[in-house]
Amino acid sequence: MAIILGIESSCDDTAAAVIRDGVLLSNIISSQKVHEAYGGVVPELASRAHQQNIIPVVDQALKKAGVDKKDLSAIAFTRGPGLMGSLLVGASFAKGLSSSLDIPMVDVNHLQAHVLAHFIKETEDDNSQPQFPFLCLLVSGGNSQIILVRSHKDMEIVGQTIDDAAGEAFDKCAKVMGLAYPGGPIVDRLAKEGNPTKFKLNKPHIPDYNYSFSGLKTSFLYLLRDELKEDTDFVEKNKADLCASLQKTIIDILMDKLRKASKDLGIKEVAVAGGVSANSGLRAAFQDHANRYGWKIHIPPFGYTTDNAAMVAISGYYKYLDGEFCAMDVAPFSRVVV
Ligand code: KG4
Repeated sequence: MAIILGIESSCDDTAAAVIRDGVLLSNIISSQKVHEAYGGVVPELASRAHQQNIIPVVDQALKKAGVDKKDLSAIAFTRGPGLMGSLLVGASFAKGLSSSLDIPMVDVNHLQAHVLAHFIKETEDDNSQPQFPFLCLLVSGGNSQIILVRSHKDMEIVGQTIDDAAGEAFDKCAKVMGLAYPGGPIVDRLAKEGNPTKFKLNKPHIPDYNYSFSGLKTSFLYLLRDELKEDTDFVEKNKADLCASLQKTIIDILMDKLRKASKDLGIKEVAVAGGVSANSGLRAAFQDHANRYGWKIHIPPFGYTTDNAAMVAISGYYKYLDGEFCAMDVAPFSRVVV
């Protein structure tokens, strides 16, 4: 039996989860509210909040799981990428706890963990996990990638953004409309009332399976600038249609390349992960592709779309089974690709 404690502290969520033999026992997240007033995450405030939250969050995760810390087999933590100060809190905590309990420590790549969230079992007889090989569209505030997943540890990025991430496109365009941060969920909500074909926005023409969202952002900005010259209430009057058109364009861009990758590589098992995978339009597009192209799709429960420690614990579980432990002097990293 393997019981893994997962710790996630890469950005502004302090999270801990316990997984026993791949089955989730607890998943606790403390989201930091302190950043709301600044319109984005303030790294120094994030690290301080992690320091305050980490002990109560881990304590709650163990209690909820009904597991004593002495029963843990290993501690998994997010090593990167993320904010260095935030990562250091989780890594240092993991080091302290693993050395005091004399159990192994497993370092986890945050991006791979988003992909492996699809392997978390809610119950022992949960058999909904993807079959290898599969494609995973990883879309968040910092990344937009198409990943070819051959095994739990063999992942290849076949396409990625050359500039902004899809989540950034949502957030930055929302900001120019005067919406709060993060704008993605607000655009999603407003888009439900709007006409997605009302405004034509630029789509990129770049080769392979790569993405670009900076042109879309500029064309959105120019549209608003030109229309506001004619009518200062333009945004207010057209908010829902603007959101619907923006969301449709982002989803079209994402799905066009994913469909191309699926066709070229002959892979119909397709998953989505990351913060933007909460988007209702993107989820509907996946369902539509399942119906039209025979894709077997994997859409995560909402709780696994944003940062969480369950995905860290499951990634740690597979590395633990392979005996892939890390040394006490392991250092976090802020930037890296899968
Ligand atoms: O994975 P994540 O929690 O962390 C970062 O990488 O930062 O992703 C956050 C991103 C933000 O850009 C947010 O606007 C976007 O995910 N997001 C959404 C939705 N929910 C979160 N974008 C579109 N529609 C949503 N429903």
